[in-house]
Amino acid sequence: MAIRRILTVDNAADLATLKKISTPVEAVTDELRALMDDMLETMYDAPGIGLAAVQIGEPIRVITMDLAREGEEPAPRYFVNPEILSSSEDTLGYEEGCLSVPEYFDEVERPSKVTIRYLNYQGETVVEEAEGLFAVCIQHEMDHLEGVLFIDHLSRLRRDRAITKVKKARRAA
Ligand code: NI
Repeated sequence: MAIRRILTVDNAADLATLKKISTPVEAVTDELRALMDDMLETMYDAPGIGLAAVQIGEPIRVITMDLAREGEEPAPRYFVNPEILSSSEDTLGYEEGCLSVPEYFDEVERPSKVTIRYLNYQGETVVEEAEGLFAVCIQHEMDHLEGVLFIDHLSRLRRDRAITKVKKARRAA
């Protein structure tokens, strides 16, 4: 396993990659599992609760996630070619962040419940209902597969402010 560099919006080349639409995966192979292992390690190291492959420069439809709280056993999850089968009418506003938009958090409104279908680490098809933080996180990560960042859901003013903040934080680092 290896920790990979996470692309961030303050870098023009990184941003161009983050805007790419990720391509579907043909099969869950050992090579893909090796990438998912790297993604998980990178995500834990950051630390973050979700990561899309495009965030490490691989625009393919793969997501890793772990929503276990501090002190709980790690609960890694892998989503290959995820699709949303249905979304609830009611929405949930949640203060989101993103490893590609470091140090910036803002509220995004999304459907509070979604039904998803994906391939897991073993390549098996899973259909599952997500709500709460899981619903927020899977929709956030699936946006990445379409080249969409959570700040793209904000007004232009707030999005510009987010990028300015990231650039400032980066310079200070
Ligand atoms: Ni993100």
